[in-house]
Amino acid sequence: MNTYIIEFIKKTTGNSEEGSLVFIESNKHVDFEIKRVYYTYSARNGIIRGFHAHKRLEQVLICVYGKIEVTCDDGKEKKTFILDDPSKGLYIGSGIWRTMKWLKDDSVLLVLASDYYNEEDYIRDYDTFLKYIK
Ligand code: TYD
Repeated sequence: MNTYIIEFIKKTTGNSEEGSLVFIESNKHVDFEIKRVYYTYSARNGIIRGFHAHKRLEQVLICVYGKIEVTCDDGKEKKTFILDDPSKGLYIGSGIWRTMKWLKDDSVLLVLASDYYNEEDYIRDYDTFLKYIK
């Protein structure tokens, strides 16, 4: 399945109270040019979003606060990832059905995307998805 975890470079000062900094550059720390950034927030524990696949879009999902479970499905197998570390991202290639479940109130999901928003790129019906990837 075309999904994998990316470990970003994390800068710390040595004083844990001062926190950490992560930076992400196009074609360097992610394997595509970042054309769009969006984030989902203020969702309650237990909420599930997503329920779609993309025909061409590539994305990297980062839980910058909280804990989110992401399930990826390529029509043959399913993989589940727990995102709870802001220094890691989940790459999701095209043609993968995904759901994102909030495991903590107010978790924030930051998404880096390879293209501008285009509803035509979405497949929002699971049976249509299964036919599309065959
Ligand atoms: P959607 O991608 O379905 O969100 P999720 O997978 O988290 O449930 O998007 C929700 C709505 O927002 C939908 O009407 C499309 C719209 N939207 C945009 O207009 N621009 C964007 O960049 C994104 C990601 C969504």
